[in-house]
Amino acid sequence: MSDNSQTRSRTRLGAGGLLKGAGLAWFLVATAGQWTFVWYILNVYGVTTATGNPQDWNETGVIVGYVGGDWFGNLMFAVHVLLAAVITMGGTLQLIPMLRKRVPALHRWNGRVFMVIAVVLAVGGLWMTWLREARLSDLGALGVSLNGVLILIAAPVALRLAMKRRIDPHRRWAMRLFILVNGVWFFRIGFMAWIIAMQGPVGSTPQLDGPFDLTLAFACYLLPLAVLELYFRAGRANAAAPKLAVAGLVLLLTLVTAAGIFGAWMFMWSPHL
Ligand code: HEM
Repeated sequence: MSDNSQTRSRTRLGAGGLLKGAGLAWFLVATAGQWTFVWYILNVYGVTTATGNPQDWNETGVIVGYVGGDWFGNLMFAVHVLLAAVITMGGTLQLIPMLRKRVPALHRWNGRVFMVIAVVLAVGGLWMTWLREARLSDLGALGVSLNGVLILIAAPVALRLAMKRRIDPHRRWAMRLFILVNGVWFFRIGFMAWIIAMQGPVGSTPQLDGPFDLTLAFACYLLPLAVLELYFRAGRANAAAPKLAVAGLVLLLTLVTAAGIFGAWMFMWSPHL
């Protein structure tokens, strides 16, 4: 190998390491934010449900939470929010490579549970949105509904690929599913990061039908999915430049994610609720 090609290959290896490191940095920050979200769900919906006070669900300002006499709708809501905590926690465990290698049975079972819950949340969410009419605007509801439909596509694809032992495409689809399942979390932290950056709810209305709200209703999962595709492509690229560019983008988004988590904790999830 000539000196030149040795230097090029070393630069590529360094860039590849940086890309992986950026992905890991994002994942660690996001995991902290997702566990914070889980804490909120358990602290608010877990405690009120377990102590027999479901009417207190409404104190979070949900659109249609507890409705007196509507036992089925209330049950659906309880199942939705409580399983949301389980899937959010399970999703972070699923992506830890060490657990995957050392305890493959946990990965397999947690993965099956994750996919079943993803489908239950998407179907239940679609039911609450359109039949229980828990929506503020039709266009915003279309955003979260498309998120639900994409979950219903990605979950069986990821599962079938795992069952056929096609590990590489399985990994890619499982990561897409992870992003989709966290769409509602991205919405919350995206909203907060924006408010912090703009010093106020610019483009947002109380009905969540302002230009920013409606864009975010779709962008909260489409944008992270697009970044994930860039991450995959950069990982496969031969040159160092795309790896470095995507590593830089992911590091920048790690800061945005951290700001959004901070805002969500301060204004939505901390115990003052
Ligand atoms: C798959 C991942 C999902 C998670 C982790 C999740 C999580 C949650 C949480 C935590 C809440 C309580 C609201 C709060 O206190 O912030 C909630 C409510 C709700 N979710 Fe989901 N959700 C998911 C998917 C969906 C989907 C795909 C839809 C729609 C298609 C949906 C529709 C709803 C609706 C309508 C409510 C009630 C909101 C209200 O009345 O204000 N969810 N969800």
